[in-house]
Amino acid sequence: MLAGRRITLIIGGGIAAYKCLELIRLLRGAGSAVTPVLTAGGAQFVTPLSVAALAGERVFQDLFDLKDEAEMGHIELSRAADLLVVAPATADLMAKMAGGHADDLASTLLMATDKRVLIAPAMNVRMWEHPATQRNLAMLTGDGVLTVGPNAGDMACGEFGPGRMAEPSEIMAAIGAALGDGPLKGRHVIVTSGPTHEPIDPVRYIANRSSGAQGAALAAALRDLGARVSFITGPASVPPPAGVAVTRVETAVAMRDAALAALPADAAICAAAVADWRVANAGAQKIKKGAAGLPVLEFAENPDILTTLSTHAQRPALVVGFAAETEDVAAHATAKRARKGCDWIVANDVSPATGIMGGAENAVTLITADGAEDWPRLPKAEVARRLAARIAEALA
Ligand code: C5P
Repeated sequence: MLAGRRITLIIGGGIAAYKCLELIRLLRGAGSAVTPVLTAGGAQFVTPLSVAALAGERVFQDLFDLKDEAEMGHIELSRAADLLVVAPATADLMAKMAGGHADDLASTLLMATDKRVLIAPAMNVRMWEHPATQRNLAMLTGDGVLTVGPNAGDMACGEFGPGRMAEPSEIMAAIGAALGDGPLKGRHVIVTSGPTHEPIDPVRYIANRSSGAQGAALAAALRDLGARVSFITGPASVPPPAGVAVTRVETAVAMRDAALAALPADAAICAAAVADWRVANAGAQKIKKGAAGLPVLEFAENPDILTTLSTHAQRPALVVGFAAETEDVAAHATAKRARKGCDWIVANDVSPATGIMGGAENAVTLITADGAEDWPRLPKAEVARRLAARIAEALA
């Protein structure tokens, strides 16, 4: 898939730099050539010798190394690759990229290139969440820079949260997608995600606790395998991933309409926690407290988007639902699969004790026509990757 490609790999100065050695190994195993560029910071964490040995090529480090300029100028170096990958992309490197700095070899190559750039950010969780980094990220994404990760988890600095660099296998998938080479290339997948908000009146609504984390992770994993993703999201607390077509909706009815408008598709993954009911007598004006006593809300049943897609004349070849249960998970989910007419159900136990709802991990049971398959408890991103890989297999 990556055979015959050339990747310029810019290794920034972070502890995650060691993972680049494995990334180089994977890239070369896939038939790609790697041009390694080591920043001054990167060279504090991995040696030029180990990078060069694995890449099988010389390591570029210094902008003002005249020998480099004689052999290959920095402009040429920036363009000789099919893709530039920055891993780890430190807060400082991201700031330099966002600001258009060109004061060392790495930043100059990133400024001079006419190729796409993929960054794998890695930093302390507070640095990642700092408004400056998030501002830079938004700017870079707006400039068309692709991102992979960071993942949430234990960090080398002893803290916990988003900031760990994506694993080499994830970076490989993102490189494949950036080069348009993934197994889902040419496929269109609809993903619904997040909660819905059902208005009571113009200022109040009924909602649920879905964060949209699993749906966003799935959309990113499908994108990384090369799919064109239509991501239809309710008001989630987790932002949508870059590189997918986002439609933001509030209500179940609007989500259904957006899903139907996105057809035809090869697959539909309904990960949204859609409200079962909407308020039938929602107030056109803010409902006042007072003499009329307590308001009485009447409910109407919302359309079931999963069933609608499963029974549609343009039914996607693969329709996948989720089932959040608090007891008898496999039994309820198996019944749900039959009732809704979908192909697979991804079932999970969301009893409060599991910490899954709103948490970083998920323990799922995949229900297919062949029965129930228990998956181990995994980070939501890993569940997403496994599911995306299964979807790619099913559509192959
Ligand atoms: O019935 P329940 O809400 O447990 O079903 C969950 C599955 O059905 C999820 O895949 C969810 O996205 C989907 N669903 C839907 N539209 C609804 C309710 C649920 O698509 N109105």
